[in-house]
Amino acid sequence: MKILQVAAEIFPLVKTGGLADVVGALPQALIAEGADVRLVLPGLPAILAGLEQSAVVCEIGAAFGAARVTLRRGVVKGSGVPAYVVDAPYLYKRPGNPYQAPDNSEWPDNAQRFALLGWVAAHIAAGELDPDWQADVLHAHDWHAAMACAYVSAHPASTAATVFTVHNLAYQGLFDPGDFPLLGLPSRFMMPASLEFHGQLSFMKAGLKYAQRVTTVSPTYAAEIATPEFGCGLDGVIRARGRDVSGILNGVDDDIWNPSDDPVIAAPYAASSLAGKAVCKAALQRALGLRVEPGTPLFGVVSRLTSQKGLDLVLAALPNLLAQGAQLAVQGSGDLPLEAAFSAAAAAHPGMVAVRLGYDEAFAHEMVAGCDAMLVPSRFEPCGLTQMYALRYGTVPVVRHVGGLVDTVVDAGGDADGAAAPNPLATGFMFGPALPAALSVALERTVAAYRQPEVWAALQQRGMAQNFSWATAARQYLAMYQGLNPNWGQGPRAGSPTPTAPTAKSGGASRLPA
Ligand code: ADP
Ligand code: GLC
Repeated sequence: MKILQVAAEIFPLVKTGGLADVVGALPQALIAEGADVRLVLPGLPAILAGLEQSAVVCEIGAAFGAARVTLRRGVVKGSGVPAYVVDAPYLYKRPGNPYQAPDNSEWPDNAQRFALLGWVAAHIAAGELDPDWQADVLHAHDWHAAMACAYVSAHPASTAATVFTVHNLAYQGLFDPGDFPLLGLPSRFMMPASLEFHGQLSFMKAGLKYAQRVTTVSPTYAAEIATPEFGCGLDGVIRARGRDVSGILNGVDDDIWNPSDDPVIAAPYAASSLAGKAVCKAALQRALGLRVEPGTPLFGVVSRLTSQKGLDLVLAALPNLLAQGAQLAVQGSGDLPLEAAFSAAAAAHPGMVAVRLGYDEAFAHEMVAGCDAMLVPSRFEPCGLTQMYALRYGTVPVVRHVGGLVDTVVDAGGDADGAAAPNPLATGFMFGPALPAALSVALERTVAAYRQPEVWAALQQRGMAQNFSWATAARQYLAMYQGLNPNWGQGPRAGSPTPTAPTAKSGGASRLPA
């Protein structure tokens, strides 16, 4: 089965969050299951630099405001996964992250930048840009890639099935309706039943409306986004898709997140011997200027600092946490008021609270390895990878009862005195309402368990034994792809169109907007 994965970021080349980790790992897991997988990525500087064996597939010409667009093909450095890269310097050769300028403002031409990505993906899938390859399934990730589903739908000759994965419904790719003519789509696509959304143009709706299957990154989030509370205004659209919407839980990439073989942490360790974890804790306390105390519970946060992540609750619960003799280490970047508030807390409590602002992949590993417990108090969480990494590293997660956190953590029960018998399946601590008092109770339960070494060790062992395998997720995706056409993988596809010459302008209904 030939699968084209479309995304805007990929670990380790470009990463703003968990999406990159998924795009870095899922294709390899699908390939290990026997699938023929290729990626389509935008030609951001770091992506072009990380494309090995790069060769030109075709010149696409002028498109979406860029004078020259070239399609390249190569393999992703490190993983060797085959990738097409849309080389359009005018649109992608920029500093900052894939979506924003260095001053955190959205690039004003994001509609064109990500429509181009989708357009190219749809035409590769149809076999029109690379005569040697066409896709059975086009799988687009988040709004950045969602337009691919609309362009496939607009293409009269495309036979590719489409799958759209929502990694975060809160980021929707909303644009001025005046941008619609730039997309080169028939006017029916700007109707409320299509891409129009309360007077705006919604790229997210391109995925939700036109993909044959919609997935999210955990089963609980799949159910949540069909409700007004979590649907971000799109719950009606999602409910209308009925059983086409499902959740497939993300995995953990064992090659990257494995405490027994992690080159950046102070000492390796495994469930059978946690001595190295104490070394990591001391190294982290030292690195952050915290008091180096082995018996002091060290709580950590590794997160984007946005309202999604509920970190205002941590600030509000901090006095209670400190009153219990615990330390807090925060690694994050994002909203300036949150950065300032955590910095102020660190200044007010030297030796007990420490903050590392900014994005640092290696330090995230040191945090996950060195902390005793990891806080993920999110208001909503489509999947959440941090708590899964924490489990893998024997770092006990303290999470809110929401989204993928529900699907990955089992609450220990118990009370602040440590009196109640803990749940024998427990891997962490959970709280319900997004209120400081509710988080405080969970923190008290966590500290109480920490002070009982056997109870704590059992939680760590159980967490480390959890199997969040990408192979499991890949098999679920493959079964879903297969369900779209059970004849795939059984030899040549009946009715496959003969690949046409790779001239973008010759193929399909969606004319190439110059
Ligand atoms: P989200 O994608 O919503 O940010 P996830 O938990 O799925 O949440 O993924 C977050 C990813 O980003 C993890 O790999 C985590 O380690 C990483 N991360 C978050 N903040 C930082 C940071 N400041 N420095 C390095 N890595 C970070
Ligand atoms: C999004 C979500 C996060 C999820 C990640 C990868 O960024 O916020 O919960 O783990 O995508 O799917």
